[in-house]
Amino acid sequence: MDNQIKKIGILTSGGDAPGMNASIRSIVRTAIKNNIEVIGFMRGYEGLINGDYINLDAKSVSDIMQRGGTILLSARCKEMMTDEGKQKAANVCKELNIDALIVIGGDGSLTGALHLSKLGVKVMGIPGTIDLDLACSEYTVGFDTAVNTAMEAINKVRDTSSSHERCCIIEVMGRNAGYIALWCGLVNGAEEVLIPERPNVTEDEIIELVKNNKNNGKVSNVIVLAEGFTAVEPHDLAKKIEKATNIETRATVLGHLQRGGSPTAVDRMHASIMGYRAVEQLLKGNINRIIILKNGKYDDVDLEEGLKATRVYDDSLYQLVKTFA
Ligand code: F6P
Repeated sequence: MDNQIKKIGILTSGGDAPGMNASIRSIVRTAIKNNIEVIGFMRGYEGLINGDYINLDAKSVSDIMQRGGTILLSARCKEMMTDEGKQKAANVCKELNIDALIVIGGDGSLTGALHLSKLGVKVMGIPGTIDLDLACSEYTVGFDTAVNTAMEAINKVRDTSSSHERCCIIEVMGRNAGYIALWCGLVNGAEEVLIPERPNVTEDEIIELVKNNKNNGKVSNVIVLAEGFTAVEPHDLAKKIEKATNIETRATVLGHLQRGGSPTAVDRMHASIMGYRAVEQLLKGNINRIIILKNGKYDDVDLEEGLKATRVYDDSLYQLVKTFA
């Protein structure tokens, strides 16, 4: 690699995601091998704005690959949404002689990076969110671990539900996207999946489904609900299903347990390679890009273009869930 870059800053921002540490480690180790100094800003943009950082040497990232969360901590920084905050962040980059800033995070975090790029900061983005809701990339750091965690949890709820011949509603994360729910729907063999991409399903239709299943001799139902499907509230829906069908129904909200835990091999692998490629691109003189996975291959896309991308919802996974139900 050619070496024009002397100092890199890293931050993790927004909802943390398992695998962020693997990216941090690979960035630091790749940078150091190329004689680049690395600093890590604490609590995402909050640390950048306040100049709160730590020096990252090779040893500082030992023993972190297997840990969930992020050693740099994360936050949702309101100040970064103001013009003043953005300018402060850009000034800190300048004052600290940072040649490039690598941001690991989701849509909001990479939008922050885009703003900084407009203020002259050289940036590089790595998609990091359990929601998989960055349309420009087929993969985001943390999704695989979150799905596996949710799958394991749903297995357990299913065991007790089956023993009691109950219906269970399990809410998984996914603010605007139903990917965790859809994947779990398929790999947990759910009877129904409720996702924001299919907003028009009514309570009556869900109750009808459970009734029909009962008439066909099936009382144990698994309904996976993405948190972004706002047409129903899980505990409320459970009561309504129970009342209408006479099948005991319980709701479980998995919540933040899906965001923690040791990353899977898939997340460690992609996160590490994306970190490496982020540094590699900077060394090649490429800036303001997002490292992505496209058609199964690593690639990178212009930051602004990548953030503009929209994904057309493909119903085929949902249809498979229904075929197998
Ligand atoms: O990072 C994504 C996500 O986990 C969403 O699935 C969820 O809606 C949101 O973050 C929760 O954010 P917070 O931890 O700030 O409550």
